[in-house]
Amino acid sequence: MEKKIVFSGIQPTGEIHLGNYFGSLKQWLDLQDKYFCFFSIVNLHALTEPISPSSLEENTLKTTSYLLSLGLNPKKVVLFVQSDIPYHTELTWLLSVVTPVGDLLRMTQFKDKAKQFKETVNAGLLNYPILMASDILLYKAEYIPVGKDQLQHLELTREIARRFNRRFGQTFPLPKAVLEERGAKIMSLAEPKKKMSKSLGEEHYLGIFEEPEKIREKIAKAVTDSGKEIKYDQEKKPGIANLLRIYSLVEGKEIKEIEKEFQGKGYAEFKKILAEKIIDYFSQSREKFLAMKDKKEEIREILKEGRRKAEEIAQKNIEEIRQKVGLKY
Ligand code: TYM
Repeated sequence: MEKKIVFSGIQPTGEIHLGNYFGSLKQWLDLQDKYFCFFSIVNLHALTEPISPSSLEENTLKTTSYLLSLGLNPKKVVLFVQSDIPYHTELTWLLSVVTPVGDLLRMTQFKDKAKQFKETVNAGLLNYPILMASDILLYKAEYIPVGKDQLQHLELTREIARRFNRRFGQTFPLPKAVLEERGAKIMSLAEPKKKMSKSLGEEHYLGIFEEPEKIREKIAKAVTDSGKEIKYDQEKKPGIANLLRIYSLVEGKEIKEIEKEFQGKGYAEFKKILAEKIIDYFSQSREKFLAMKDKKEEIREILKEGRRKAEEIAQKNIEEIRQKVGLKY
């Protein structure tokens, strides 16, 4: 039987935080042995926000090194840069003619970004989900490991695929999200009712490759509440609930067990131990990253190979799509 196809992407915006890792990347690592996986550094998506050409170049290589350091195996998966396969942008156009503008306008991420960049809301921010749909559909992917924040985009991808299939004939399978419940929405350290994100600022996120000292400092400063008990209560104690979820993810234990271990102990002690657990969890990857980060040529070679493999499939699929749409004459 043919292996099912998995697709996911990450924007090269510098750091990788706990949310990216537990919401998505950890699933990439688990899925790489079982499925035919395409993982992409989505540099075209990153252009929707102000980023200099030199940072974009640098972050593309850096993000690739991060992924390799975490254990992604380029012999098992197709690891490539989005812009290396121009069919993504061609398919974006073809999908845009079956995408209602109203659907794009009601995307939460678009509405949030439109508020953030009041002065100039570029069309790329609005069209962002069509490019994401084209990433997925170009490879006819069925399983998409993502965090909760991407579910709305994925639902729209399904709608776009349905509309395309209806108008041009059955072409795309309908992709499904692969979610890991505990890690699907890691919250900000400074405002635990908001999701962890880099755009909120330094104190809100924890970069998994940050210096150990910085990790200790950020966890120590994480916002909690005026109580004393280490107890999971999402409504009354969102800060502690978030830290408990993170603890349970790095330690592989149930939250109930952790609560028991910390009975009668204070927040400071809990945070101190949590910081060490996080540092330990990522220490091997961090060492690998430090050893690899200057080997730019090797990283470029890996991406070149990924490009070759991605192109083979993408080209075959785009030929079929062009034919269905009526572009072959
Ligand atoms: P990006 O680069 O913003 O984030 C990468 C992955 O991390 C997840 N994530 C989180 N998960 C849990 N808690 C959080 N606080 C958190 N913050 C981020 C995201 O859900 C994502 O899975 N649009 C995508 C990239 C993309 C893509 C695709 C994904 C482009 N094309 C096709 C899947 C399939 C994005 O912005 O990811």
